[in-house]
Amino acid sequence: MSTQATGTIAVFGATGQQGGAVVDALLARGAEVRALVRAPESDRARALAARGVELSAIRIDDPASLAAALEAVDAFYFMTPESHSPQETEDEIRLGTALIDAAVAARVPHVVFNSVSGAEHDSGVSHFESKGRVEERLRRSGLRAVVVRPVAFMESFAMLPPTVEDGEIVLRMPVPDGVRLKLVAVKDIGLVAAAILLGTADVPGGAVEVIGDELTGSQIAAAFGAHAGLPARYEALPLSVLGGDPEEEAMFRWFAEGSAYPSDLAAVRAIVPTTWDLAEWIRSTGWTAPTDLVPS
Ligand SMILES: NC(=O)c1ccc[n+]([C@@H]2O[C@H](COP(=O)([O-])OP(=O)(O)OC[C@H]3O[C@@H](n4cnc5c(N)ncnc54)[C@H](OP(=O)(O)O)[C@@H]3O)[C@@H](O)[C@H]2O)c1
Repeated sequence: MSTQATGTIAVFGATGQQGGAVVDALLARGAEVRALVRAPESDRARALAARGVELSAIRIDDPASLAAALEAVDAFYFMTPESHSPQETEDEIRLGTALIDAAVAARVPHVVFNSVSGAEHDSGVSHFESKGRVEERLRRSGLRAVVVRPVAFMESFAMLPPTVEDGEIVLRMPVPDGVRLKLVAVKDIGLVAAAILLGTADVPGGAVEVIGDELTGSQIAAAFGAHAGLPARYEALPLSVLGGDPEEEAMFRWFAEGSAYPSDLAAVRAIVPTTWDLAEWIRSTGWTAPTDLVPS
């Protein structure tokens, strides 16, 4: 698996978080990128075009549009969108299957599928098992393919940050303390996928978990506290805070179980030595403690 791609790399999901990170990494390495987009007039698609990305309008249920988008590409990256309900997970599998079938028809030489860590196990999480089904379909397709399996995004802490209470950083999650949560910065998913797409990274076994750090709740709180210059504590919450949502409960249960499997941190650092740990993500993203709650 060490061919150097020189032609066009097709990217599905380029207007999203992970696909966007893949585009960033490919452009930084001088690659030509074709984005498969359903809304070429959207702001995000136009922003890609302004950076030199070729846009190819596609519809998942239109094989001709997919064939045109994948014509003569050197490599193809795809992810599958978030799903929650049983109908959405079926849609996710259908979308992944349509993209694989199109890659087979277009004889794409090399494919990278962005799955999820846990898709290779019996996780009990529907939107992980849907990705496992897409992986299975990819294995049976005969395509030369690598699966990247990201762990939980560090970016979640931007959406649900720790709070500051009485001058102390407080982090609460429905994960027992002591469990080492697997975390990754989204930009590193892009760097890893780009290295594989460009043929400059070997992935023995054809799959790699994409991870940047493994930390307990207390260690995560401490990382935010160290950055803010404040003491920090972690409070493990019960799964009942998830409001009885069985998919969310299954996922948080899996985070605890999945942490027991050895991580691929060393393999990822061999591909991208600059992978961020959480402390680096906090520094580099300019995270600041919510100052309105910090006593002066
Ligand atoms: N959050 C986590 O910690 C985490 C960790 C590992 C894996 N994951 C998995 O990552 C996935 C989400 O990735 P993300 O955050 O990168 O997604 P995202 O930012 O929501 O982007 C989704 C992308 O898919 C495109 N898309 C969706 N449906 C489409 C369709 N029918 N036709 C064409 N394009 C379509 C969107 O295009 P538009 O711009 O047109 O909408 C967008 O480019 C989920 O499957 C999730 O399970 C998440």
